[in-house]
Amino acid sequence: MPCTVNADIVAVTSASPHGIRRTCPPATAQSMNSPPPLSWRPDLSQRRGPLYRIIAQALQDDIVQGRVPPGTRLPTHRDLAWDLKVTVGTITRAYQEVERQGLIGGEVGRGTFVRDPRRLAEAPVDAAPPSGLVDLSVNAPALWPDGPSLRAALAAVADRPDLLSAMAYLPQGPLSMRTSLARWIAATGGPEIAPERLLLAPGGQGAMHAAVAAVTRPGDVLLVEQLSYPGIRPLAVQLGLRLVGVAMDDQGVLPDAVEQAARQHGARALYVMPTLHNPTTVTQPRARRETLAALARRSGLVLVEDDVYGFLHQPPAGHALPTLAALAPEQTLYVSSVSKSLFPGLRTGIVAAPPVLQDKVAQVLRATVLAPAHLGLAVTAELIDSGEADRIVARRRALVAERQALARRILGERLYGSSAAATHLWLPLDAPWRCDGFTRTLLEQGIKVTPADAFALARGEVPEAVRVCLCSIDGADCLARALERLATLLGQPAQLDQALI
Ligand SMILES: Cc1ncc(COP(=O)(O)O)c(C=O)c1O
Repeated sequence: MPCTVNADIVAVTSASPHGIRRTCPPATAQSMNSPPPLSWRPDLSQRRGPLYRIIAQALQDDIVQGRVPPGTRLPTHRDLAWDLKVTVGTITRAYQEVERQGLIGGEVGRGTFVRDPRRLAEAPVDAAPPSGLVDLSVNAPALWPDGPSLRAALAAVADRPDLLSAMAYLPQGPLSMRTSLARWIAATGGPEIAPERLLLAPGGQGAMHAAVAAVTRPGDVLLVEQLSYPGIRPLAVQLGLRLVGVAMDDQGVLPDAVEQAARQHGARALYVMPTLHNPTTVTQPRARRETLAALARRSGLVLVEDDVYGFLHQPPAGHALPTLAALAPEQTLYVSSVSKSLFPGLRTGIVAAPPVLQDKVAQVLRATVLAPAHLGLAVTAELIDSGEADRIVARRRALVAERQALARRILGERLYGSSAAATHLWLPLDAPWRCDGFTRTLLEQGIKVTPADAFALARGEVPEAVRVCLCSIDGADCLARALERLATLLGQPAQLDQALI
């Protein structure tokens, strides 16, 4: 049979002959006596790790993905143990794990039942909220499918041997947790960073602040892409910096324009998003990155590389794109967070600085936050160490693929220049639509998107376009209706404002 079961670890050596859910082990003389069919049986064929955990993960996935409906009475510990040829204790432990996530519950004398996973969502945004507004203006991840993973991690954190170290006055948290984080950053497309060099900040915003503050002085100019993440604006105000926008093309910021702006304004730093730029979704190709890195090395310009969406970029094998931090490590401050890949509420952000800037960044962090809240780091490390973080990322990528396919069915070639790997769309408008008028008219119809001018943080030309976030609402039906309304409006003539005389 394709399944080999050790005391604690299971490994499957070949797939089921039917290519579908595997029953493990096979029919034996005993099963020919036709015991009643089990209401649930795990497919362990692709799973590796301790038996109790992979059984728990299989159950969790089957419940969350709707393969085991709410109300199902699960097999007894004894029946499932016999069926899988494992100990009753293994099944008890697996069920306990899933019970801790709130996905199943025992009823004395009746058995163990599957609960409705949707009930666990704190605030499901399944359809339009009571206000009727469908908010596609926020680039937040849809969290409800990941509630069980978070619950399990929270429970497991209590047993971590490094938990108390995380609660001590360690500015950067325990090395064990930083090691997990550094490994995961590299595994999800980021640069290789020695754990000792990983500086922790409260979220991506805190990381951006620490990085920018370390390399600028009040009165300085900070270069930004012509359209950029609006979170940099309050930060610049706080630090007394003036933002200067640099022209972009369909491959990202233009190196010649960067060089010229840096010279003209005496700027020391550029804040830049090379991968899945927010809002345009552009990913800089390798050549553009190399030119920017060479420019930074030559001119002394510091690059503050924001990579919060990097984990969504999945190049074909052999075509991975280097980060700017990998190309110009001595000139780049790499900032990221787990807000888009895991949970914004963990506030786990990071800065990796070149050795000469490491102390400066650490000083800013010491002055502003002393040490970030390491409970978030502990949960992040637990999600990574248990493998749940990879599973969450896989779900996030699958959701992006699903939602982008839906958007492409409805909006067709209008999305030509917008990357299918992003959590949002960048949608150019046909004349005479202007982004403010289009956004206002759409809002009157109950749909909120963001006009391009919200991302124009410095003087310069603003394209007529809107950003539409796809993954922040739960219901695909609701999203489809909103996108259909949006497509209809795009095809209608704009109501031109009355001429002023
Ligand atoms: C490009 C970019 N950088 C940074 C952030 C902030 O990240 P965090 O939520 O971790 O503070 C965001 C949030 O939307 C973002 O889009």
